[in-house]
Amino acid sequence: MLRGIASWRSWLQFIRDPLAYLAATQNRFGALCVLGNPLPIWRGGRRFVFAVGGEYARQVLGQPDVFRTGGQVMLGPRGSALYRIRRGLFAMNGPRHRANRRLMQPPFSKSAVASYAATIAQLIDQIVDRWRLDETLDIYREMRTLSNWVAAHILFGNEDFAASIEIGNAIEELLALDARARKNPIWLDMPGTPFGRLLRQAERMEALMRQCIERGRKNASQGTDVISILIRALDTQTLQMRETDVIAHAFILYAASFETTANALAWSLFLISQHPSIASDLHDEINSQIATWPPDQPTIDALPLLEGVVLEALRLMPPVPFTFRTARRDVELGDILLHDGDKVILNHFHTQRNADLFHEPNRFNPARWFGVRPDPYEFTPFSGGPRLCLGYSFALLELKLTIVRVMQRFRLTVAPGAAIDGIVQLTLRPRRGIPMIVHAQDRAFMASPITGNIRQMIDFRALPEFAPDAR
Ligand code: HEM
Repeated sequence: MLRGIASWRSWLQFIRDPLAYLAATQNRFGALCVLGNPLPIWRGGRRFVFAVGGEYARQVLGQPDVFRTGGQVMLGPRGSALYRIRRGLFAMNGPRHRANRRLMQPPFSKSAVASYAATIAQLIDQIVDRWRLDETLDIYREMRTLSNWVAAHILFGNEDFAASIEIGNAIEELLALDARARKNPIWLDMPGTPFGRLLRQAERMEALMRQCIERGRKNASQGTDVISILIRALDTQTLQMRETDVIAHAFILYAASFETTANALAWSLFLISQHPSIASDLHDEINSQIATWPPDQPTIDALPLLEGVVLEALRLMPPVPFTFRTARRDVELGDILLHDGDKVILNHFHTQRNADLFHEPNRFNPARWFGVRPDPYEFTPFSGGPRLCLGYSFALLELKLTIVRVMQRFRLTVAPGAAIDGIVQLTLRPRRGIPMIVHAQDRAFMASPITGNIRQMIDFRALPEFAPDAR
């Protein structure tokens, strides 16, 4: 266990560059590393445990009543807007979590999700219709706009694009301030400090969510979207719902859905364009199997290479690279006895790059997924167990439809010489976006020379030919 100055240094390194820190601790200490509390008097000296591997993920995620959520985001003081907006589904545990999750489940069922395809397809077309040949655009920004519109339309029944963009930008600002506040030791509500600005931004966020709910009221009596369901629960006092709960749920749904999906989309399109032979095979698959736009769910589910591309992008660049849990009683994890209050940080990023599970783990190789389903705790881009991501089938549909449409209409190449850096700001995102050039779909697929830390994250060597018979 690291203690004293070593734990301080370690903690600062984790905050500054979590992925580099997690790689270094895994190399040095193995799959479990315990960090003493940098301030032994803070929260009773609770420890932090970093864990890599499916077995630990199974123990932790499989026991949600022992390992509770918390610690992933900064909470404000009680009574602050930051505290209130972070009390939604994600912060709930036990029976309250189960009841609220059940209430919100219907819009995320497989049949409900399939019914969204036409709307998602229209929104995708509205985005790509704006693209002009030979222009360079930031694909990350484009995908943020898309996932923002999709979240606003489908989750909230809100067709006001300007309002949804304002919410998306406010969430982005909130996450950036959250990251800045963590790195700054002064957690005081003072003008000019990152923490003070974070608190003000949360107040703005709360006001925007309140307006969003007000707009949702007009459809609430019959609406099947999640906001209508929550407003009806508020009006009928189901689960003792209060307005602050609806705002907090709406905030977490918005933040959890649009930020993660935008990252997954941007990384997927980037990885496809940097692997020309995969791009070519994927285009063949799409061309030969999809006759209408949008394709129906069975058609889209029957495309093995598309499925492999999406899963492989989520494996290599998981939008949520690690998750936090807090032990709620003394419990063993591996050979460590955790105490009530100790924090566990599950490192999905490196579990998904374990060479024993994934041959040549840093290579983008969609064919590895043909006919194979790894253990659900060894591949966890959507987490696992009873708290599996509520929107995972929704996200997969959005990802697949977007890739299909972009490939049908355009060929994208990364701007030569672009610096592509992955950073963790709650989610794993491209630091300066991903500049890509739009070409007609002429099948002249080619990779571009690039710089940035992505070159350490992905092994870009050419892959062998796609062999459909190997499925
Ligand atoms: C590629 C896109 C997405 C990824 C990678 C992703 C990933 C995750 C992960 C890893 C968790 C668990 C976090 C934890 O327990 O610490 C989670 C939870 C959650 N996700 Fe997603 N998500 C995505 C899209 C969505 C979408 C589209 C929605 C829809 C609204 C959504 C809603 C949620 C909710 C509500 C939770 C909390 C569930 C609970 O605590 O019971 N996510 N997601």
